[in-house]
Amino acid sequence: MHLHDLSKQHSILNKFICEIRDVAIQKDRMRFRKNIERIGEVLGYEMSKLLSYSPKQVITPLGNFNTADFDNTIVLCSILRAGIPLHNGLLNYFDTAENAFISAYRHHKENPENFEIIVEYLACPDLNNKTLVLVDPMLATGQSMVATFEALKPFGSPKEIHLVSVIGAKDGVDFIADKFPKNTHLWIASIDQTLNNKGYIVPGLGDAGDLSFGGKLQK
Ligand code: URA
Repeated sequence: MHLHDLSKQHSILNKFICEIRDVAIQKDRMRFRKNIERIGEVLGYEMSKLLSYSPKQVITPLGNFNTADFDNTIVLCSILRAGIPLHNGLLNYFDTAENAFISAYRHHKENPENFEIIVEYLACPDLNNKTLVLVDPMLATGQSMVATFEALKPFGSPKEIHLVSVIGAKDGVDFIADKFPKNTHLWIASIDQTLNNKGYIVPGLGDAGDLSFGGKLQK
């Protein structure tokens, strides 16, 4: 797997990441969602540099302009519900993409440290020979990303896979490294060192779903 950790370079992305982590700023749900969306746009722009391009000619009112456009048929797949703002950011740029949605949640067994990922709802187009972009804002243990990939297998074999995350934990990044084809790319805005005993990223930002959409009752 090819890792693209965008925190290695200073850019405007740092500001968006600081704002979603900051307890004072993240309380503003609209700003939180907008910042995640902006991060999706930046990650999508970086990812676009690795797509396959062919020559294209555009006719302007005054002449012809020769350029290149990508040929990839992109499928954006997000895990509900926390993935929605990041999905929107990617969709702002890849506006002709097809879309897939999956609901995956952590089912805690006897203790908070022990959980399995339950996949329930799944809507997905044909994936054969397409560019699959798996969108998960918080790459904590990596189990949701892998469970999603497994659930998508009956829909076909993508030509290439890109994983897009906002914040990851080092353990989660290591866990997924050998669970995807070798030519898979991970685009991530920040990687933190640890997970707590509930599987939350530390320092992280808290619960991305709750911060985007409000709290929920646990099943
Ligand atoms: N999901 C979140 O929203 N936050 C984490 O830290 C881990 C998973």
